[in-house]
Amino acid sequence: MKTVYLETFGCQMNELDSELVRGHLESIGYGFTSRPDDAQILLFNTCSVREHAESKAYSRLGIVGKRKKSGEELVLGVLGCMAERDGVDMLRRYPQVDLLCGPGELDKLPMLIDNVARTSSLGDDPTGEHGRVALAGSTSRRSAALSATKDDLETLDLARAFDPDRATSAARSAYVRITRGCNKFCTYCVVPHTRGAEVHRPPDSIVEECRRLARAGVIEVTLLGQTVNHYRYHHGVALTIDGRESPQIGPGLTAFRNEPLEDDDVTTFARLLARIHDEVPELARIRFLTSYPRDFGDDVLAVMASRPRICRYLHVPVQSGSNRILKLMNRGYTVEEYLEFTDRVLAHLPDASIAGDIIVGFPTETDEDFEATKSLLRRVPFKNNFIFKYSPRPGTAAISRFDDDVPEAVKKLRNNELLALQAEIGAAVHANWIGREVDVLVERKTNRRPADAHQRSSADARVSLGVGLTAHRGSEADARTEPVQVSGRTKGDLITVFDVADADSADAMIGRIARVKVDGSGPLLLRGRLLETG
Ligand code: SAH
Ligand code: SF4
Ligand code: F3S
Repeated sequence: MKTVYLETFGCQMNELDSELVRGHLESIGYGFTSRPDDAQILLFNTCSVREHAESKAYSRLGIVGKRKKSGEELVLGVLGCMAERDGVDMLRRYPQVDLLCGPGELDKLPMLIDNVARTSSLGDDPTGEHGRVALAGSTSRRSAALSATKDDLETLDLARAFDPDRATSAARSAYVRITRGCNKFCTYCVVPHTRGAEVHRPPDSIVEECRRLARAGVIEVTLLGQTVNHYRYHHGVALTIDGRESPQIGPGLTAFRNEPLEDDDVTTFARLLARIHDEVPELARIRFLTSYPRDFGDDVLAVMASRPRICRYLHVPVQSGSNRILKLMNRGYTVEEYLEFTDRVLAHLPDASIAGDIIVGFPTETDEDFEATKSLLRRVPFKNNFIFKYSPRPGTAAISRFDDDVPEAVKKLRNNELLALQAEIGAAVHANWIGREVDVLVERKTNRRPADAHQRSSADARVSLGVGLTAHRGSEADARTEPVQVSGRTKGDLITVFDVADADSADAMIGRIARVKVDGSGPLLLRGRLLETG
């Protein structure tokens, strides 16, 4: 049996893709290892969103290249967005790469591996000749549109074999794709180029997938799309050969004007959320990522407000607080419209958490633009913001239109300044919850020992220094009976830590919902006391 090592870079889409690829390969007999040295097939599922993400993958390719040079017989595959963006150029520059597979071709990966293996020494090819293969480019916009009606990728999502022990958070939590690709073309962004045109999955497939996950023990699903609120499915338009509805190209933004609230021909994002909530009652939590600050109707907020198992959490990146920069980014909204939106969210859902992304150092960003971003941050109760330094990406509009003219040192300063400001805002948001009770979906044990346990174990460590191995072993056994800290998330996605009696009760609690009284907080988390486990 050939053993595979699969490493994932980038966003949740990639994590889900890796999970599907792994399930697919396992179902046809491949084994997996978490140690690259034990594998004959090494796959890197890559990200192109910033240069830094690509460099990490390139350094891995370098390491595998050295192993191959020293005579090891390995298959090296690059999957995901870099395979799509860099394409054949990468094959030319990196002779150690045997196969490329873009995100739109992952269903064909077994065939690609097979082809490489058959023509290489791994497959006992007497000549030792190497067949290098590439399947990328299918997410180029035209062919994505053409292939949307083909069911291949859809099959990969539908055929998933969810293994709760390997779930992303090991906490009975799973990602479910609702939309592939993106039609927005923000000027800095590679995603529309690597993931192709927006294609919506049929609602019946999505609901069925949620149902099957719930049956396999999942209690939380996170619906994934680059702009989830643009989800829109027209019924009766496209069917597969066996009469099922097939994935569908996004309709364009005009579709969001005067949205009809009840129209049997269309499933909007609001109706999709309502269907999942109502038709899969076993799901304790339904969340979604990422929301776009435009075209987010009151219909979605009303569905959220009336359905308690939908999480009160919106990740809705603003990117900049300067209207001038937003325009250069082609975001299609103003700061005022963003604020109108977040105010509307909090009016409907006062307990909702809002998080976002910000890019600093976009070309031409002045101190004044940056000040505007700081003012926006002060205006919205963001629980957190991911802050990125602008990274010019090949193939995007921004790299051809603008010089990357904000010096790295200025980007760094702005980045740090925003991190500090966000820490203040985050601290205030989290402190607001002190004294309240929250439901926490427990995800993992933290490395931190509760304070009293820590004191005890360092006393043990001192003893073990003097008495040697026996005393040390004793302290390890004690560790099972010492209090342990666990971490999870509230319905508003606030990270919450609390102590439980010992490691066994911590293990038993993972993947369950605990009632916790909040008695402390920090910029990024709540601290609490366990009341009961559901
Ligand atoms: N679809 C999501 C974001 C996907 S990419 C949305 O529109 O909100 C995730 C984040 O990476 C973006 O929100 C943006 O903040 C950041 N990002 C994308 N391209 C970037 C670039 N070229 N340089 C720096 N940050 C970038
Ligand atoms: Fe990129 Fe903009 Fe699409 Fe988000 S909405 S993936 S930032 S192009
Ligand atoms: Fe990266 Fe592709 Fe996701 S570029 S952020 S892995 S969609």
